[in-house]
Amino acid sequence: MDSTRDHATTTSGSTPEAGHGEPHATAADTARRADRRSASGQRRVTTMTGQRLASWVYAEEFVPEDDRLLDARASGERLGATPVGASTGAALRVLAATLSATSVVEIGTGAGVSGLWLLRGMPADGVLTTIDTSAEHQRSAKASFAAEGIPHQRTRVITGQALEVLPRLADGAYDLVVVDGDKREYPAYAEQAARLLRRGGAMALDNMLWHDAVADPAARDETTRTLRDLGKALRDDERFVTTLLPVGDGLLVAVKR
Ligand SMILES: C[S@@+](CC[C@H](N)C(=O)[O-])C[C@H]1O[C@@H](n2cnc3c(N)ncnc32)[C@H](O)[C@@H]1O
Repeated sequence: MDSTRDHATTTSGSTPEAGHGEPHATAADTARRADRRSASGQRRVTTMTGQRLASWVYAEEFVPEDDRLLDARASGERLGATPVGASTGAALRVLAATLSATSVVEIGTGAGVSGLWLLRGMPADGVLTTIDTSAEHQRSAKASFAAEGIPHQRTRVITGQALEVLPRLADGAYDLVVVDGDKREYPAYAEQAARLLRRGGAMALDNMLWHDAVADPAARDETTRTLRDLGKALRDDERFVTTLLPVGDGLLVAVKR
């Protein structure tokens, strides 16, 4: 199984890949009732109605992509570097703007969709350091950044294995670390992010719901377990203030105390 590949979620109409067991929401799913117990032991029942699903789709499509993003998205899909969904991109842009992020690290450049969203949220002097093993993907990302009119000095595009590159980056020097690389390496990326972030900086990890598998206790494949365990570990980690946003395929955000 190639855990570096992920899939456009929600409304883009991608099909689940064999072997991942990645169900997409169906009408039956939306009517399914999930029984849960709160921390106090009280039973809570969450019901996903059709209208609730409509609201979710509305939110997913709330910030539309322009032609430049759509072009980058098409390149990413053609290259097999599945871009973040539009709602995830919009959330990354908000994070970059909220943090006034002048120093951002991204793991998984792809064809530059997430990079474009980030650059749009960062101040005009912000620098995006983005890492990918694929020079081909990065050529496409650079073309997207150039089409956007991003000055050359605002991007530092590094070709290499993230776990070889990240240790060379400075401690406490970054406002935001965005993780969208090899899912098996997410725990190691998160440890690197903890070191790279300044206090008050944030890491944002995409695919933390992993095509609805993470929330399904019956899903026990290696990637799902890795992401599920990592999410809980970050949630319980005193070094961070963490939330799991049900945006796109799940965006976990952890702010360094
Ligand atoms: C899901 S795509 C990234 C999409 C991109 N964030 C976007 O929104 O356009 C994952 C990318 O991670 C890269 N990748 C996979 N393993 C990696 C590793 N060990 N180190 C760095 N990049 C890696 C792949 O080449 C691929 O381009």
